[in-house]
Amino acid sequence: MLQIVKALIPTPIKRAIRPAISAPHEYWAQYSARRESRRQEVERVARRRSAAMRYYDQRLRMIEEWAPKHTEESNFYYDITDRNKDYLAHTIAVVTSKNWAEVRSFIRELDEDQALRRHIVAALREIEPHAEIDVAYGRRCGWYAIARALKPAVLIETGVDLGVGSCILAAALLRNAKEGFPGRYFGTDNRPDAGQLFSGHYAAQGSILYGDSLDTLKAFTEPIDLFINDSDHSPEYEAREYDTIAAKLSPKAIMLGDNSHSTDCLSRFSTEQNRRFLFFKEEPKNHWYPGAGIGISY
Ligand SMILES: C[S@@+](CC[C@H](N)C(=O)[O-])C[C@H]1O[C@@H](n2cnc3c(N)ncnc32)[C@H](O)[C@@H]1O
Repeated sequence: MLQIVKALIPTPIKRAIRPAISAPHEYWAQYSARRESRRQEVERVARRRSAAMRYYDQRLRMIEEWAPKHTEESNFYYDITDRNKDYLAHTIAVVTSKNWAEVRSFIRELDEDQALRRHIVAALREIEPHAEIDVAYGRRCGWYAIARALKPAVLIETGVDLGVGSCILAAALLRNAKEGFPGRYFGTDNRPDAGQLFSGHYAAQGSILYGDSLDTLKAFTEPIDLFINDSDHSPEYEAREYDTIAAKLSPKAIMLGDNSHSTDCLSRFSTEQNRRFLFFKEEPKNHWYPGAGIGISY
């Protein structure tokens, strides 16, 4: 009978169970060691995954809260952390040779400008009456502080969108003018409806030049003190903007790249033109967006 059963068992199975029959103690010891090692490996991977996820859990929760809201779909509005503003002030102090306290006070000045905030909120409400948009300026507070420290006579921002940057920059020019340093703002955008927020006394600080940014920059004849790139974010277009204005920069010109977290165009341009380059990384406050930054060529 046993012989018949043995003959019915397929050879691979016979091979597999032979060690368990011939040396059962040794076999079971090895079997439990393998099981224990597999259990430890599963535990190790779970521990590492949970350590890494601690950096993302809060952000994933913020995505869940943000997604159902009726807020902006892109070009997100968020504030940056206070520590980030302190670091930004240090970066700008280096770039503009000002002291930290003065630069930090420019950032505070923007935060406390209630008239500007009311203007932007009211204009946004007119455009999108049902939106729950909470305006905050993010890294644009760095653009503002640089405009305040540098006192540019001519400032260009390529890419206007609704005009949050335009209003902030115009607010900086308004303060500069009160201190005896007038300047003009030029925005470029190829969307005929861009700049809806740029109105009132902010709009009196300059104008939006409609059309393709490269065409506008080619036709621009005045020396540029502050240049902010924020239009077409492809690396090719960004690089072409820098090349187009290279010969139009004034001796004290500062260039800001809004794409420097994803391309090295401004860094390469700076090296080629014998200019210095720094990158400031923003740290959004209570927002899932990981943050962009400001490339600074000076
Ligand atoms: C990221 S938004 C600008 C945001 C704005 N700087 C702010 O502070 O809110 C980019 C804008 O660039 C414009 N744009 C894209 N390609 C362009 C081009 N080739 N020439 C001019 N404007 C362009 C878009 O229409 C859009 O309004």
